[in-house]
Amino acid sequence: MRRLRARFNERSDLMRILAIETSCDETSAALVADGVVRANVVSSQVKLHAEYGGVVPELAAREHLRNLLPVARAALAEAGLNAVDIDAVAATRGPGLPAALLVGFQAAQAFAFSLGKPFVGVHHHEAHLYSPWIAGEPARAEFEKFQANVSLIVSGGHTLLVHVAEAGKHRVLGSTVDDAAGECFDKTAKLLGLGYPGGPEMDRLAAGGNALAHKFPRPMIHEANDDFSFSGLKTSVRYYLRDHPGAVEDRKQVEDLCASVQAAIVDVLVTKTVRAARRLRIGCVTASGGVTCNRSLRARLTAACESERLHLRLSMAKFSTDNAAMIGVLAERMFLRGESEVSDDQDVKPSWPLETLGI
Ligand code: KG4
Ligand code: ZN
Repeated sequence: MRRLRARFNERSDLMRILAIETSCDETSAALVADGVVRANVVSSQVKLHAEYGGVVPELAAREHLRNLLPVARAALAEAGLNAVDIDAVAATRGPGLPAALLVGFQAAQAFAFSLGKPFVGVHHHEAHLYSPWIAGEPARAEFEKFQANVSLIVSGGHTLLVHVAEAGKHRVLGSTVDDAAGECFDKTAKLLGLGYPGGPEMDRLAAGGNALAHKFPRPMIHEANDDFSFSGLKTSVRYYLRDHPGAVEDRKQVEDLCASVQAAIVDVLVTKTVRAARRLRIGCVTASGGVTCNRSLRARLTAACESERLHLRLSMAKFSTDNAAMIGVLAERMFLRGESEVSDDQDVKPSWPLETLGI
């Protein structure tokens, strides 16, 4: 492998990083400068994929190609910078959809190459781990408050519980053995005849429903491990609807089903996260990923952490769903550790277990 160690200028406190994220269905570009998120532009493809009821990889990649340059241009404009002002470039290397990752990664690498600037490929989930510490401006000042924590990452593709011992040192405690939490929201919503993605719609409808109307299973809640399983919950809803086909026609019944399913998902997530923190004697819990937008999850985690005297950091909504700001903020830390590199044979890593990084 021919690896060219890029020279990184010593003005680390003046670092302006262009970060790109295209791992799934959001095209995003961010400008992180001097530890501050100066711009974070996200173009969501949700509408495009909605008619297929899920993300279509080929369409996602083509849409990234169409949107990437306008999104990057918008991020630069918002930050008041030109391309030549950039000191370094970062992009998500994985995990994610192969073709989608390639679009952003290749463009970012070419951009760094043409400007003669350093480049890093960032692990998408590692970026999620630190996203709860991005709180507007300045991001780096918030990072100074960083504490060892148990971090819950809940998205459409992943459910991970991670012990973050210190910035850059983490250990995966558990993950889902089948469906991710967001996937469970989306698949159940589909059974209920709701649109895609189903999570936000279920959150909205659940607010008017009775969470005690149905006693759905809380998979693996009492098992002595930090893993999750959600496909059985979805199956329970399928059986209920098979036996009560009229339920989806009745708004009150749909609201009750949404509230009851949401309660089951949230119960498992909160119980296992707080239990892991207690077991490890860690005083801080964080949560990130699209499902962290769920109002019930936020409220239940807040209440549970208060009663257990745990410090809680929930990622802000704009940094919960996929975004390039979190890629740029982690990239900055990587650059400061001297990890910048440009090589001829870098590739994306569609399957890249978080376990392979960290402690
Ligand atoms: O992190 P994200 O934007 O993309 C990845 O999957 O990587 O997460 C999207 C997931 C979807 O499954 C969506 O239904 C879920 O997050 N989601 C929610 C809410 N907002 C987004 N689930 C429950 N309640 C919400 N308010
Ligand atoms: Zn994500």
